[in-house]
Amino acid sequence: MSEGRINIAFHVNGAPVSLAVPPVRRLSALLRDELRLTGTKVGCDAGDCGACTVLLDGEPVCACLTPAALVNGAAVTTVEGLANGALSALQASFLARGAAQCGICTPGLLVAGTALLEKEPHPSEAQVQDALGGVLCRCTGYRKIVAAVMDAADYGSNAGGIDRHLPASGHAVGARIARLDGVPKINGTEAFGGDSFPADALAVLVVRSPHHHPRFAFGDLDAWAQAKSGVVGIFTAADIPGKNCFGVIAPFADQPALAEGVARFRGEAIAIVAAERDAVAGLDLSDFPVEWTELPAMLQPAEAQADGASLIHANRPGNLLTKGFVERGDPEAALAGAAVTAAQVIETSYVEHAYIEPEAGYATWDGDTLTVVACTQAPYMDRDDTAKVLGLAPDKVRIMPTATGGGFGSKLDVSLQPLIGLVAMKTGRPAALTYTRSESMMSTTKRHPAVMRSSIGADAQGRIAGMVFEGDFNTGAYASWGPTVANRVPVHASGPYRTPNYRAEGRAIHTNGPISGAFRGFGVPQATIMQETLYDELADRLGIDRLAFRLANCLRDGDETVTGQRLEGVGIAACLEALEPHWHRALAEAEAFNAANADRKRGVGVASCWYGCGNTSLPNPSTIKIGISAAGEVVLHQGAVDIGQGSNTVISQIAADALGLPLAAIRLKGADTAITPDAGKTSASRQTFVTGKAAEKAGKALRDKILRFANVSGEAQLALEAGALVIREGEATRRIDLSKLTADADGLAFVAQESYDPPTLPLDEKGQGKPYAVYGYGAQVAELEVDMKLGTVKLIKITAAHDVGKAINPLLAEGQIEGGIAQGIGLALMEEYIPGRTENLHDYLIPTIGDVPPIETILVEVADPEGPFGAKGLGEHVLIPTAPAILNAIRHATGALVKKVPATPSRVLAAIREAWS
Ligand code: FES
Ligand code: FES
Repeated sequence: MSEGRINIAFHVNGAPVSLAVPPVRRLSALLRDELRLTGTKVGCDAGDCGACTVLLDGEPVCACLTPAALVNGAAVTTVEGLANGALSALQASFLARGAAQCGICTPGLLVAGTALLEKEPHPSEAQVQDALGGVLCRCTGYRKIVAAVMDAADYGSNAGGIDRHLPASGHAVGARIARLDGVPKINGTEAFGGDSFPADALAVLVVRSPHHHPRFAFGDLDAWAQAKSGVVGIFTAADIPGKNCFGVIAPFADQPALAEGVARFRGEAIAIVAAERDAVAGLDLSDFPVEWTELPAMLQPAEAQADGASLIHANRPGNLLTKGFVERGDPEAALAGAAVTAAQVIETSYVEHAYIEPEAGYATWDGDTLTVVACTQAPYMDRDDTAKVLGLAPDKVRIMPTATGGGFGSKLDVSLQPLIGLVAMKTGRPAALTYTRSESMMSTTKRHPAVMRSSIGADAQGRIAGMVFEGDFNTGAYASWGPTVANRVPVHASGPYRTPNYRAEGRAIHTNGPISGAFRGFGVPQATIMQETLYDELADRLGIDRLAFRLANCLRDGDETVTGQRLEGVGIAACLEALEPHWHRALAEAEAFNAANADRKRGVGVASCWYGCGNTSLPNPSTIKIGISAAGEVVLHQGAVDIGQGSNTVISQIAADALGLPLAAIRLKGADTAITPDAGKTSASRQTFVTGKAAEKAGKALRDKILRFANVSGEAQLALEAGALVIREGEATRRIDLSKLTADADGLAFVAQESYDPPTLPLDEKGQGKPYAVYGYGAQVAELEVDMKLGTVKLIKITAAHDVGKAINPLLAEGQIEGGIAQGIGLALMEEYIPGRTENLHDYLIPTIGDVPPIETILVEVADPEGPFGAKGLGEHVLIPTAPAILNAIRHATGALVKKVPATPSRVLAAIREAWS
């Protein structure tokens, strides 16, 4: 036994294991690093997320809190050991129910659920919530997880195989099928960013600023490195061979990969240390030779805009990154002439993405080309930014995305890619890095905090006359997606309502706060809180039912938006109408409850959303390649990264029906910049619409090619039978032996590649134009109960009606809606990131399984003339109405509007006191 180590022997998934390890080594590290059982995930390393849950002698424990010494003689079961056959009943239930999206939380949930089912095969909802309460999921909203555990017994004692019941040719679109890439997510084989590091990889550590705005100077780096065992190199900005500046929107790119002399926010990287992996555990960075000099820091936009404020970027006067503007008609005159007006100031907080997978990946250098294997939402953008920083041609950087354990916008920006790339280039060794939970939270982007002011006026009949809106969005130290937020907000701040007179301005303002970037909705969720709460005030003052007020004003086919765009396929009225019976039932129940209770009051709120899919008035293309291999498979080069939202499945469904071959014939080739064409970023609710449209075009183009080759009409039916393409038209059948055709370098006998870029028009100086080709719509009703003495809010139910155009896959669409609502609940009631104070999942609270009430989803299908098979985007819309519906319900229950979110109990109580004083 080596010094400082103990011998332990235990069983893992029934197999005996003996190891010599330090006694305090975590069980999670033993499993992942020593035994390569990477199904056990690490989301926090601190007992907060539950992703590492395993069974220790049959009881669920956090492997990250379990020291090796405790495991000696025990039996450990991980996700890899849950099934006797192909899948356990619970795993099959998870798959069928759509209970796994990105899948990073799924092993922990399955293990915790298995322990419960051992004791109680038919658990109640409360028992499931209790047993799984320690495992966080950021994607699903938990409802399908609860159902999957409760229904697991339906799948028998051993589900054995996986019967997918895939739809027949021509019936893939609209089919409620389990995700095609689901099995690895539930059997522990999915490889996320930190799951496949090469054994000889160097470990990379990042030295970060502990201050909001310090100047810094390095001491003797060489001496420090030499004094530390295992350190191979230290790299700073001086070592960067390319342009030390990246950013997702090229004209605004301003962020150094490693800061040069001054850091502009707490958590900014200033140096990297590469070390042998064995040495990392003992490596102490607290004496890293750097001297900090704190400079004045501005954390609020008001400070940054004050007269004489110092500039965070010398070329941005007033610390203004950029602003967006939309104007139509004469809003001041309309407000002056309105029968009623309502005005308010609303403030929102930083919101952390809190995906359960921290950023992770590794890089290799072969002397000419850098390969980065990491989690991401945007492989081609990563390639270009990494190449720029490292001074490489883009085609000398290959990005191979791993499975991504949640992104929600933040994994659109590069994070570790240039850092591990630099180490790989400089050392010639593979370089691997997994962010700790706190460095993930400190250093990556957030939802923009906003301070918004608005006035809306209506005539005596309740028609909206005019609106003015202005919002200051704290964009933090660097640009990231701040310009997108500033531009998208003014286009959307009217909500999906006719607003003939309108002016809206969104400003992105630099501070020394965390960088604000993309987060599901790009500022629209914040602006919608402003507009929808004012709508409630107007309706109340006019004595009009709040939902009826919205129906009277909502956009309809042929209406023009505030940017002058004429719309077709508008489904907001259908959404609101679908909610009407739920609304009236909920109001009646609340009234009866409130008549009988004094200390607790029920409230019902409604809010709507609309959301333009894709980039705002900017090119936004996706390209899809599809072919038929000599072996008789349909090979789909699908470069849209599936971060859990389901693009692998949905794009396949679209392609299959466009081509006219069964979904079962499709073989996916996932995103890889060396193989798959650019399908753009997974963001802005664009993949189903934009990449889906490219898939529809490519599928049709391939079909046309085949039909032309066979010299048959468009009515012919295609089939694949034993390596042959069979074409039937009327009584005639033609068999094409695919192995006899000349295949291309990819082995494809027939191939087509098509691109699609949404037809948008630029906005003029008044913000008039056609910013998006497709919009999606939705509305939600929230029912809740407020404790009038404690200020606590208990959600009772959320009913969500969303117009998705065509539900390509209703199961996955429901999953998106439920997951978005959970994030909306967090925004409304609990999430507030404070730099220096909430940099972990213990102090930063996200909804747990007990925080998400029953959700009833109504899928509304008003076909869009542009979208593939009529489909619209969905991913971001679903979060937008939740927070305003909740705030409106709190106001209905208490008479008090909470003007700063999250509506924590203290803020709810303060609002009640103010309203009743
Ligand atoms: Fe163990 Fe989060 S990794 S609880
Ligand atoms: Fe639960 Fe992604 S599926 S965190």
